Amino acid sequence: MQMNISRAKGTKDIFFDDMKIWEYVEENIKDICLKHNINQIRTPIFEDTTLFSRSVGDETDIVNKEMYTFLDKGNRSITLRPELTAGVVRAYIENGFSSMPTPIKLWYIGTMYRYEKMQKGRYREFSQFGIEVFGSDSYLADIEVISVANELFKKLKLSDAIALKINSIGCTVCRAKYIDTLKGYLADKIENMCDDCKTRYVKNPMRIIDCKQDKCKSAKQNLPMITDYLCDDCSKDFESLKSTLSEVGIEFEIDKTIVRGLDYYNKTVFEFISKDLGLAVGGGGRYDTLVEVLGGTHTPAIGFGLGMDRIILLLKENNLVSNPKNVDVYFTVFNSNIFPKVYKLINDLRDLGYIIDIDICNRSFNAQMKYANKIKAKYICIIGEDELEEKVCSLKNMNTSQQVKVKMLAEEIDNILKGGN
Ligand code: HAM
Repeated sequence: MQMNISRAKGTKDIFFDDMKIWEYVEENIKDICLKHNINQIRTPIFEDTTLFSRSVGDETDIVNKEMYTFLDKGNRSITLRPELTAGVVRAYIENGFSSMPTPIKLWYIGTMYRYEKMQKGRYREFSQFGIEVFGSDSYLADIEVISVANELFKKLKLSDAIALKINSIGCTVCRAKYIDTLKGYLADKIENMCDDCKTRYVKNPMRIIDCKQDKCKSAKQNLPMITDYLCDDCSKDFESLKSTLSEVGIEFEIDKTIVRGLDYYNKTVFEFISKDLGLAVGGGGRYDTLVEVLGGTHTPAIGFGLGMDRIILLLKENNLVSNPKNVDVYFTVFNSNIFPKVYKLINDLRDLGYIIDIDICNRSFNAQMKYANKIKAKYICIIGEDELEEKVCSLKNMNTSQQVKVKMLAEEIDNILKGGN
């Protein structure tokens, strides 16, 4: 009996025009990272489970509820990466990056896995573009990192659709004092709050600020905020970050409620929010203690992760999809004997950078014309036995229907294509 097997819930296939949008975004990312002197890194899709419990945090939703964890055949606990910062930090330590010239600037695009409730823009397998910068504790590194995302949104014409929201959650010293104050404030209210907040109150009280439950709203109305408790150093850095962002022309809002859902952050945290979808397109911040926590030497660091799927969604919803790269010239051949005779010509044109296609199905001339129309080829090149004899071909502009006869030479065809005739 035949059985239809569907893709797993929360995953998707990406193909044809959508794939071209992904490629367009990825090309822009590569270009921007190159211009910022950031190197690409690829790390494994699965890692030792302890890596994530130690870095992202045992009490976070990601580690507690969302990880794809399993025992492999050697009885090791393995987890499909739910995010990439931890893997990059592991790679930084394991490969001795700390002995290389500082700062180390890395970027990645990759899939990650979280067992989440499905909704628009939320998948169980999704991709992030991220950067991680190691070795600078200066707010100038924060500016460079945020600037990469800002440049990408500009390039993709998404700047108006996305708001940058920033906050500071202080260092271990000032945060400890703030958490005491926060717990004191909530002490007589926590009983009436949701179960998650009750756990957070004990394990990670700052996450209470993030709770969206109606039940918790009234208790949170006059919550003390970390920005009022920052120590002198953190406060000075946050002020410098804000004034320099303004100076370099990066628009931002201060959002005191941003605390981030992963444990490793300190000081600067930020999110990029889609104004229409109300969804986070990206998030990041400093994680100055993580390298040490995972066994390395003290190394300040900062980075972000942008949701690729959400960027693509925004491009499509705002009709900002760039022109897909269609075939420049489709070669229609009257019979299969002609195919090998034009093969050098089509490869010469491919060498010149053109997208060239040719019939490989032995179809009738009419069927080849129909196909060229369907794939929106810009030109068709018609070659029959007579043309072959004369070493010429007919080039038809599919937009204007204008047709010219040219010599069967790549330079001749190149001239016509460049002229747009
Ligand atoms: P995150 O906030 O968990 O941060 O994820 C970053 C972005 O990934 C989100 O803003 C969102 O756009 C996208 N994302 C997250 N979950 C999903 C999902 N289920 N479906 C689709 N998109 C999703 C991190 O992962 C940190 N590692 C970012 C970072 C890098 N911080 C410092 N360096």
